Formats: sequence, C-alpha cells, structure tokens
Amino acid sequence: MKTWRLAATAICAAMGLGAQAQTTLKIGYTPAATSHYGVGSTVLCDEIEKGTQGRYKCQQFPAGSLGGEREMIEAVQLGTLDIVNTSTGPVGNFVPEVKIVDIPFLFRDYDHARRYLDSAAGQDLLTKFPSKGLVALAWTENGFRHMTNSKRAIVKPADAAGLKMRTMENKVHMEGYKAFGIQPTPMAFPEVFGALQQGAVDGQENPIPVILASKFSQVQKHLSLTGHVYSPALYLTSPRLMNKLSEADKKVFYEAAKKATAAQRKKVNEDEDNGIAQLEKEGMNVVRKVDGAAFRSALAPAMASYTKEFGADNIRKIQDFK
Ligand code: PAF
Repeated sequence: MKTWRLAATAICAAMGLGAQAQTTLKIGYTPAATSHYGVGSTVLCDEIEKGTQGRYKCQQFPAGSLGGEREMIEAVQLGTLDIVNTSTGPVGNFVPEVKIVDIPFLFRDYDHARRYLDSAAGQDLLTKFPSKGLVALAWTENGFRHMTNSKRAIVKPADAAGLKMRTMENKVHMEGYKAFGIQPTPMAFPEVFGALQQGAVDGQENPIPVILASKFSQVQKHLSLTGHVYSPALYLTSPRLMNKLSEADKKVFYEAAKKATAAQRKKVNEDEDNGIAQLEKEGMNVVRKVDGAAFRSALAPAMASYTKEFGADNIRKIQDFK
C-alpha cells in the first residue's frame, strides 16, 4: 500500500472514522498500457486517488478494450465510461471548434504546439466542451504523426500518391491527405493492426510512441518522418461526474490532469528520442530526410478549403503564435 494511503488510513483510524465511501472511475484509451497514454492515465489516476484520500480511484481500460476513441467519447457522454484519454481525432465531430488544431503543418514543433494549447487561446477551446456533454480536464498529447507503409519509402507526396492509408475519422486530416495524393481510409484504431497485417490498407500514420507501442514494425516496412500533423490529446470526462464533486475535489481533478499532461508529454519526448532507432532495430526502413516543402505545397488546395472553413486570421494566429 502506498505511504500516503497508509497515512490516511492511520489518521482515519486514530480519529475513529470508519471506512470511507469509495468510487472507482473507469478510464479508457486506445494504445497499450505501456504507451504515453498509459503513462499519463496512471499519473492522472494516482493523483486523483492521492488528492481525494482514496475516495476516488480508477480502473484502467487500455488497448481499445472498450472500443475506439469515438465510441469511448460517446460512452463518456452517456455515462457508461467516466474518463477517456483521447486524441483530437474524432473530437471535432462532437466539438467543432476543436477541428482547427488538426490542420496539417499548423504547428512548427512540440514547443509551439504545447505552448499554444497551454495559452489562453488554447484553454479557451476547453470551454466549448460542457455544452456538448463533456468536460475537458486538460490538453495532453499524442504527438507529431508520421507515415508508415508496406510498399515503398516516402520522401515526397508523389511517393505517397495512390497508397491506401488508414486515417482517423477526421475530415480535416482526410482532406489534407487527399491533397498529398493518398487514398484515406478512416477506421477505428483497434482494427488497424489487423488491416495492416491482412493488406486491407497499405499504410497508416501515427506518432512514434503509437508506432512503437502498437508494434507496427511487425506489419510495416517503411517509416517516413513526415511530421505532417500534430496530434493533440485530451482527458475528457462528463459534467455529470464533475457536478457530483465538491469544489476541493474538482480542483484535485484539474491539478491531477496537469501533472498527467506533463508525464504524457515527457513519455512522448523519450519515445521521440529513442524510438526511431528502436524501430530501425526492429527492421523498419526509416526515411529521415523527407521533402517537407513539397508536402506543404501539395497541401495548397486543402489549405484554401481550411481558410474558408476556419478563417485566414484564425489560422494565422495559431501559425504565428510565439
Ligand atoms: O490513430 C489513432 O487513432 C490515434 O492516434 C490513436 C492511436 C488512437 C491514439 O490517440
């Protein structure tokens, strides 16, 4: 038993207090328990348990055991799941204001993305969730997405052209990837390994931590460090749950989410630093020098449509954020 729990139990016993009511929260995510999602979720759960002196604890459901991200978000809205640690992939279908952060090549690097999401503008997006039956505890992180496939090395869009690639159920991504010449095939993540293994799709795109944790090196030969889009993530819960909490417990949940974000981002950093060499060791052919300028210019028709949907000024504000 952890020290803080022993101490809490001892204090309760000394004060003559009986066993406290305990609530077990279900938290789901799609990658493996060893992934960045597992690391962040564990910190979130530990901090909630510690901060509420064990009145709230979690049971984790990793590896898509409760379905894909869209299904889990719906489950949170319905109240059959308490928390989901999800990428923004399907979130725009619930909270349209979030779609803008999924534009390819919007963020320059991790520092840009993290600082924007943590800024007042990024935090303002979190206020759009409660009217949709969701509460966003904090932004967290999936990472910059890269392409893998079983056919050929991708250096420029012409190499990606015609490849059937699994994508998230995200219209903003799909529009951009079509401009790259890819045939986007949206699919829930729990089906992806099998689809790659059976050749139902040629490739997929995901951050290094996901490629590692999902063992895609077993079913994909080529990895290109395209970094074509930053994939934010969120800890989502429901107004139903939050409204049951005291003000002090609410604070515990938000503080726990902040600590979880730091841990999840740290794990992304570690996987970015060590994971590429690991994937090479596992047999992947890694293209480090991708023609980023060619991918950016191929994106032009999609950019015109993003500009119509989101407004040139709103996109520029994010791109120019310092
Ligand atoms: O590709 C996806 O669906 C997402 O990146 C994943 C792996 C579920 C993590 O959010």
